[in-house]
Amino acid sequence: MGSSSLLYVLPSTVLLSFMTLSPFLVVFATNPCQFPAVFNFGDSNSDTGGLSAVFGQAPSPNGESYFLSPAGRYSDGRLIVDFIAKSVGLPYLSAYLDALGANFTHGANFATAGSTIRPQNTTMQQSGFSPISLNVQYNEFYDFHRRSQVVRKKGGIFEQLLPKDEDFSRALYTFDIGQNDLTSGYFSNMTTDQVKATIPDILLQFKNIVEWVYGEGGRNFWIHNTGPFGCLPYVIERLPVLAEQVDSAGCATPFNQVAQIFNQGLKEVVDQMREELPLAAITYVDVYSVKYSLISKAKKHGFEHSLRTCCGHGGRYNFNQQFGCGSRITVHGKEIFLGKSCKNPSGYIIWDGVHFTQSANKWIFEQIVDGSFSDPPIPLNLACRREQSH
Ligand SMILES: *[C@@H]1O[C@H](CO)[C@@H](O)[C@H](O)[C@H]1NC(C)=O
Ligand SMILES: *[C@@H]1O[C@H](CO)[C@@H](O)[C@H](O)[C@H]1NC(C)=O
Ligand SMILES: *[C@@H]1O[C@H](CO)[C@@H](O)[C@H](O)[C@H]1NC(C)=O
Repeated sequence: MGSSSLLYVLPSTVLLSFMTLSPFLVVFATNPCQFPAVFNFGDSNSDTGGLSAVFGQAPSPNGESYFLSPAGRYSDGRLIVDFIAKSVGLPYLSAYLDALGANFTHGANFATAGSTIRPQNTTMQQSGFSPISLNVQYNEFYDFHRRSQVVRKKGGIFEQLLPKDEDFSRALYTFDIGQNDLTSGYFSNMTTDQVKATIPDILLQFKNIVEWVYGEGGRNFWIHNTGPFGCLPYVIERLPVLAEQVDSAGCATPFNQVAQIFNQGLKEVVDQMREELPLAAITYVDVYSVKYSLISKAKKHGFEHSLRTCCGHGGRYNFNQQFGCGSRITVHGKEIFLGKSCKNPSGYIIWDGVHFTQSANKWIFEQIVDGSFSDPPIPLNLACRREQSH
């Protein structure tokens, strides 16, 4: 959908009068983008089965509210990326690493829970962070791009499982990653100043990878900033000293300040990329503000609990790092289910102390889909537009 679509829908006289108005109106007079595919890069906020395929399925009760069984997602149901896929008229994305039942015709999801932008120097066993960092996700994408076309040429079933070559430049490329780079610093005992000092390198590596995707033909980018992780029980409980500084929402301010510094840098990086990648349409989405607004005004937005975890075990937030959502222990030969979920997940924002419930994800998606939290302020279905006004 280029600007030429405007010529088809408007007679030239109307077009002329439009030209004299603000470019804003022209944007909204345009046909929506038709994304044939979505390629997603990220962490658990958008993992639809990557980590589960490699390191074991996310345990029950994950998935209980929508899929009715574990579905590779760390939530009771769907994630923001699921609502994005649905909204652009596509089925939910298969995880690239999932060898069973995957259909990549309409895209692939390279995200895994625990992923960081920078490769970590620890194993998953040691630190809990995924080895599938953003550079690895890019390698997967690069290989997928080439080999999907070789395999597709075999015809038959392969044509019904893999995208067309031209779909790569028309696809939407979504990114939601960075939170784990910041928490991994804190979890390795860095001070806030030390974590802040890592941000420029994290952002540089992020920028490189978006530019490599552009080099592979990616044109439409939808980039989420990082959320207020100082509001999440797994951070608050693990670092109680830093979490002593809380705001009126009960969120720990040092972490949220670092998230905001990261986001400011990310926004600058996006501005630089707009200059450097002339054919790219890049939308920066302020998910931080949406999540913070939801948590700080939970009741107003229809949620009974703000920080309390739905699925967990004990403590101030119903969250215990030792006994997480879905955990079972055996005592005297008898299995005890400790990590149970609450009766009404839709009354909760936080699912398991780390991730959001489906109803929170849906609410967040509804705030961002129309462009209200985007720079430039264009809705998801126009995120292929380049001539954007700021
Ligand atoms: C891992 O170690 C290398 C070499 O010391 C260093 O350059 C890099 O920044 C480290 N990565 C992280 C995430 O700390
Ligand atoms: C894969 O999904 C597409 C829709 O994106 C559908 O048309 C196709 O039939 C599916 N392939 C198979 C083998 O079910
Ligand atoms: C961080 O400090 C705690 C408490 O001193 C210690 O138990 C832990 O091993 C340290 N972690 C790392 C990664 O150094």
